[in-house]
Amino acid sequence: MTTTDERPGDARTSSTSRRLLPLLPMLGHTAGKRSPVTCHLKCADACFHEVPNRSENPTFKDVAETALTRRAVLLGAAAGAGALALAAQVGTAAPASAAARGGRLPFVPIAPVGAAVDDLVVPGGYTWAPIIRWGDPLFSEDDRFDPTTLTAELQERMLGYNADYLDILEHPNGRSAVLVNNHEYTNEAIMFPPATTPEQLAEQRWIGMAAHGMSVVELTRDRKREPWRYVVGAPLNRRITATTPFTVSGPAAGSPLLRTQDDPTGTLVLGTFNNCAGGTTPWGTVLSGEENFQGYFRAEGTPEQARYGLRPDPTTRGWEEVDPRFDARTPGYENEPNRFGWIVEVDPYDPTSTPVKHTMLGRFKHEGATVRIAASGHVVAYMGDDERFEYLYKFVSRDTYRKGDRHREHNKQLLSAGSLYVARFRGDSPVEEITGTGALPSDGMFDGTGEWLPLVLDGVSQVPGFTTDEVLVHTRLAADAVGATKMDRPEDVEPNPRTGRVYVACTNNTARGTGTNEGATEPNPRTRNRNGHVIELTEAGDDPTGTAFGWQILLLCGDPAANPYTYFAGFPPEAVSPISCPDNVAFDGDGTLWVSTDGAPGAIGYCDGLFKVPLEGPERGRVQQFLSVPTGAETCGPVIREQQDMVYVAVQHPGEDGTWGAQQSLFPDYGAEGTVTDDAWGGPRPSVVQVWRD
Ligand code: FEO
Ligand code: CA
Ligand code: CA
Repeated sequence: MTTTDERPGDARTSSTSRRLLPLLPMLGHTAGKRSPVTCHLKCADACFHEVPNRSENPTFKDVAETALTRRAVLLGAAAGAGALALAAQVGTAAPASAAARGGRLPFVPIAPVGAAVDDLVVPGGYTWAPIIRWGDPLFSEDDRFDPTTLTAELQERMLGYNADYLDILEHPNGRSAVLVNNHEYTNEAIMFPPATTPEQLAEQRWIGMAAHGMSVVELTRDRKREPWRYVVGAPLNRRITATTPFTVSGPAAGSPLLRTQDDPTGTLVLGTFNNCAGGTTPWGTVLSGEENFQGYFRAEGTPEQARYGLRPDPTTRGWEEVDPRFDARTPGYENEPNRFGWIVEVDPYDPTSTPVKHTMLGRFKHEGATVRIAASGHVVAYMGDDERFEYLYKFVSRDTYRKGDRHREHNKQLLSAGSLYVARFRGDSPVEEITGTGALPSDGMFDGTGEWLPLVLDGVSQVPGFTTDEVLVHTRLAADAVGATKMDRPEDVEPNPRTGRVYVACTNNTARGTGTNEGATEPNPRTRNRNGHVIELTEAGDDPTGTAFGWQILLLCGDPAANPYTYFAGFPPEAVSPISCPDNVAFDGDGTLWVSTDGAPGAIGYCDGLFKVPLEGPERGRVQQFLSVPTGAETCGPVIREQQDMVYVAVQHPGEDGTWGAQQSLFPDYGAEGTVTDDAWGGPRPSVVQVWRD
């Protein structure tokens, strides 16, 4: 076993402008948010196609009109009680000490950074360095990264592309840790020279499969509060790719809907891909969401498939040209797309374990899943389906969490049996006051109540006309049938470990109120929602296993200098950092919210970043920008360790709009001003980055 020396890269001093490439003109961003290249590669242009949700759920208006009386029934509140009274009734106040103590990690917010700047900017007094980059070897120092000679076999031994979900599982000694990272998708146009032969093209497709999935990597350092180095050849190092075997758990395991000619049992699936966000469980495993799986398959486009956006067109990556299972029109492979779109669970402490796909948590474009243990010991997982007009879900386990489960054998079964719910929201303001601009209604708040509608209870379908395995495989259709609320792309959904309140990042939805699509509703109050919002949800009685909740909008994002209809929990808009397209959420040890963004360049003209948002006391809603990622990139997987003055982020798709011959980023291998490091190869490398206080 060896540890890396200076690799990957030296420490970077904070906040110097490092424009190694000429400033680029603002590229043609899509109306909503991100660059057209990202739309094409990440989501298979989901936003350019018709919204897949054509369901005629009871409209939000129908539901809202009965809101006050229903709220009284649900929560035992007096009809007409004000929003604050309701929140007090169902909420749990944060411990006073949390607000009073404040976090460490003091910083002066950075100014927003123009969308074309190729730099990672951190506050004064902080320094950053990559921990590990795409192509860094996990198993042998002899594996040298060179995009011009890369093979699939080598890529399987290196960190994958486009770092997304991230956690750093620290050993109590503070000197060793395990890093777990998702690799959402690939951008072959900047990863490799253009293929000139069919053989080269085929190899690039297999390399692409090997660059998807997840990585597990051991870290080391000499002292707490120092930057980490990753360990080449460490025992827990592992790559999971688009061809790694997974078992299937839960009620739909073995279902005819999951069987193919290669797997007549419906219980053994090869690979995971488009892994977006995730969550670390209290028992030490990592959950990862399979998101835009539709972009990897050609399919007939049956009604069930169309509800997920599966189409007959050739795919962008053309994997169907090298492996017939990616063409679901091929006899024997019709069900292959049903084997993706799940939450997967990986045990990073057991490199020999077979990762699992959990059917009990439903099949949709899973952003991620985050877990809370209820007072009863039941496990609750919150999940968003990241597409325009899709839904918010939660799972409640049948069995209870067991402390001291040494090999995690009991706890690793918890996500295999239980109940699945989808959310219906009700607003408490008259529908005519929800104008679509974002102007607050007369009660001063976008807020109300809601209920978790059962799809499956204790393993039994609650949806008329659907068997249990049909609910779990065609979850979107089942949720349509019970009248779930159409949301503005719910991405990360995460409970605050200090208060239990749940934060829902609705990243944006520029289709709201257009054409025949649903218009503004109180929980999604802006038509053509470019900037997104964050909802704070409070489970009734602080019981996450229950079915009633209260909610309010915490942030209506945007640049207050350009948009009169932003909202920051009542904090003066002129005193916050502009923020757009909230995507991943995280909490520091004091329960302060941190939000990373994906899409700010197209919406407000600034690079994406990481933002701190206090939730308690007079600073509640004061958005402060901590860092900014390079041109083309989104900020992912924030991990905040304020006790150590350390922050970690995954920098995904830097330089996205470049080409092999005209790269737009050299991230992260910037050297001194105007130079590059010895390690630079001339293009960007998506990386996991650490930021520490000097
Ligand atoms: Fe992969 Fe929903 O972002
Ligand atoms: Ca209201
Ligand atoms: Ca995301």
